[in-house]
Amino acid sequence: MKSFALNAATLAFFSSSLVPASAAVLKNNGTTCVTSTPTSGTITAAPTPTATEPCVVARDAFLSQTSASPGVVPTMAASQAYECLKSVPVHKEPAIRLLDEMKPFLEWQSDQAFLKNPPSDYPYPPADIFGDLETIRSNLEAGKYSGELEWQEDLFKSISGKPHNGHLAYHPDLLTVPFEWVRPWKLVSVSEDGNSSPVIKVLEDAVSPGEKSSHIVKINGVDAATFIEGRVTESSNTQDPDAGYNTMFFSQANKAGLQANGYFEGGGRERRFFYPGNATSLTFANGTTIEKPNIAKFHYGPYDWNNVMDAETMHKEFCRGAYDTGSTRAAARTVKSLRRSAAPNRIHSYPQPPVSLVARQDDGEVNKIDGYPEPVLITDDQVVSGYFIDEPGFEDVAVLVMLSFSSDFVSFQSAVQEFFAKAVEAGKTKLIVDVQANGGGTILQGYDTFRQIFPDIVQDGPSRWRSSSSFNAISQTFSPLCANFTPKVDYQELDNPCTSVNNWRNDLNDTNGRFTSYDDKFGPVAASGDSYTNYMEWDPANPVLTQQAFGTDITGYRSRRNFTRPFGGPENIVLLYDGYCASTCTIFSQFMKHGAGVKSISMGGRPKEGLIQGVGGVKGAQVYPFRQMGVLAELARSYTQDPTLVKELQRLDDTYVSGRSPYQLPVVNVRDAVLPDALESGVPTQFVKELADCRLYWTEPMIQNTGEIWKAAAEAAFKGGRCAAGGIVQPAKKPQIAASRLNGYRRHPLPVRGKKVLSPDSPIMQHLRVQVSD
Ligand SMILES: *[C@@H]1O[C@H](CO)[C@@H](O)[C@H](O)[C@H]1NC(C)=O
Ligand SMILES: *[C@@H]1O[C@H](CO)[C@@H](O)[C@H](O)[C@H]1NC(C)=O
Ligand SMILES: *[C@@H]1O[C@H](CO)[C@@H](O)[C@H](O)[C@H]1NC(C)=O
Ligand SMILES: *[C@@H]1O[C@H](CO)[C@@H](O)[C@H](O)[C@H]1NC(C)=O
Ligand SMILES: *[C@@H]1O[C@H](CO)[C@@H](O)[C@H](O)[C@H]1NC(C)=O
Repeated sequence: MKSFALNAATLAFFSSSLVPASAAVLKNNGTTCVTSTPTSGTITAAPTPTATEPCVVARDAFLSQTSASPGVVPTMAASQAYECLKSVPVHKEPAIRLLDEMKPFLEWQSDQAFLKNPPSDYPYPPADIFGDLETIRSNLEAGKYSGELEWQEDLFKSISGKPHNGHLAYHPDLLTVPFEWVRPWKLVSVSEDGNSSPVIKVLEDAVSPGEKSSHIVKINGVDAATFIEGRVTESSNTQDPDAGYNTMFFSQANKAGLQANGYFEGGGRERRFFYPGNATSLTFANGTTIEKPNIAKFHYGPYDWNNVMDAETMHKEFCRGAYDTGSTRAAARTVKSLRRSAAPNRIHSYPQPPVSLVARQDDGEVNKIDGYPEPVLITDDQVVSGYFIDEPGFEDVAVLVMLSFSSDFVSFQSAVQEFFAKAVEAGKTKLIVDVQANGGGTILQGYDTFRQIFPDIVQDGPSRWRSSSSFNAISQTFSPLCANFTPKVDYQELDNPCTSVNNWRNDLNDTNGRFTSYDDKFGPVAASGDSYTNYMEWDPANPVLTQQAFGTDITGYRSRRNFTRPFGGPENIVLLYDGYCASTCTIFSQFMKHGAGVKSISMGGRPKEGLIQGVGGVKGAQVYPFRQMGVLAELARSYTQDPTLVKELQRLDDTYVSGRSPYQLPVVNVRDAVLPDALESGVPTQFVKELADCRLYWTEPMIQNTGEIWKAAAEAAFKGGRCAAGGIVQPAKKPQIAASRLNGYRRHPLPVRGKKVLSPDSPIMQHLRVQVSD
């Protein structure tokens, strides 16, 4: 099980956003319930429109389809849905209020100076977040927008598009709540022989090629690869274009980890970005062109299409947050409950775990990921699984698959530990760490996994925050409270303020010592035209962040010292990427690469020669939902009367801005990771290009069976096999002694969960989470 509390209401908010194909939430008779929907993507024919108001046409399509076929996701022609969205008039005052109230939260975006002025090898144009907001604001003032949708598209472009940052997202209501766009094609990018440049094919043609099947040369009349790249440039949440390119295609890992058939069809930030037109046409190398209509899929949620009578009532229903006057909210929260471990207004666990990975209780059915071989070991939620390659020539290889770092901490830790013990006992001496489609999760889970592989290497992960005025106001309020605070396993009244980054005594300095003063931690340090805190490191020995939070310790600390390496040195291990790796996955990767010297393989990429990056997702070291900042500010206000501080803290009221992004909580990247050898220049890792050692292309057999990828990876990493670009040189021959004997591997008892763990809603748990937002 995931460590998230799931209830119908949270699901109602989120499930359609993350798993459009596997679950939906129906609003029936005033109550909300979760139902499964067919995954076949059955499209119900839209009724002939009889009304002329475009949103009434949409309403009638929704109502007739839900009554005729309950449980099937209703759809309509994309062009009709777009007409409805376009018909909604601009509501200027609420729009301007939104732009103004977003600013204090965006001030926390830690790498904004670099986004505005990126290094020369950064692949995208600069992004000026505040400049763009100002432009949208003045366009609104000048009445330049033809409708509500148009300024929301601009806002989405500026925040969720141009910065290409998986930790920075705002989903304006009208743009994202009623519909999402779907193209009627699932595509793959494959090399015919593993060496030639990849071509784009329809999935079905790759999986069961017919006599006449042919690859795609044009999409909507544009060169196919160029078309896909164009979508990536507009909207990907990856900092790397090859990684973004890969997300557009079907792979078993994308299916298992992202619940998507490739973002070309649907999903990701692409699904709500700009209207894709009424149809998509594919032109094949054999000369045939096929066009199919694009689709708008209705979202479910706590909305009622019965209330839609025209464009104005469409706004009232789907942009509800615009009508929030916000007078009663703060009064409803008591300081007492705030100071307990749980936040009063639940911080939605963000993003919600995919439903298909949450509750797998199909009794009797083998727990196995589709498109992957039979596992040796797998967690109930399928997030961690382990494999041996049962084929001649690969007897020495074990494969650890981590689809995310987001799961129950102890189950994850146990699964990794147990798999390593089984692998060593079975004589496996090589390890593939497959982090395809891994979008992160719990930060310290990444630390723990690294230390299970290299228990003797102390990780080095310097990071820093932007020194914004409201960040500083929280620090000035919290720090004085914590003079006599000592972190303990058991809950204490001051845990929340004193275990936050805003207590100068919390965290370690860059050399794993203690900060000596407020200024020693918070500076501010001026660099690259902006102000930051000093560099800091997590303290994995802090019992609040470990035993109290999760009921266990981090390997290498406290009760889990004295572990030994299961696979010996870095030459016996390889990292396998598809570029998606983000958040906690990038933190883990940094330790594996820079700390231990492990080599890496990256799959796929654009049809261009040469090496590509493996870690293409956001490399920021922490994300906060706006709500988290709101909760911390409220907590701080319960401790101070200082008028200057109170005024600053009041700016962090997220009720209105979060209310206008109900489909997914708005988030900001609040912490830069900086490589240990880049502290001087201070360039965030997000802006450092790091090529993998070996590039492999997907082939058709790999699309069907992930085990085929592992064989190619094992060949390249351990057996002198070829790469499409680059290569991994084998170390000089060593005596063939099993790693267990060579390194004195010792089995340790599996972790036992402590008595009580923190609620996933607590600010501390939120603080420990770093996961990409799609
Ligand atoms: C609607 O819900 C109410 C109360 O939950 C219930 O009594 C009633 O039977 C339901 N009606 C239908 C048509 O399901
Ligand atoms: C060309 O290829 C496409 C895609 O594989 C296929 O659907 C179509 O039938 C082919 N056309 C001809 C004339 O062979
Ligand atoms: C899409 O629109 C174009 C131009 O308006 C039209 O020619 C084409 O037939 C439409 N295609 C579909 C599938 O509706
Ligand atoms: C970290 O803290 C220790 C102990 O306070 C101190 O000796 C060391 O110089 C500090 N390191 C940095 C980089 O400030
Ligand atoms: C680790 O080893 C040291 C030295 O042998 C020993 O004193 C200590 O108790 C061990 N710690 C754990 C947690 O087993």
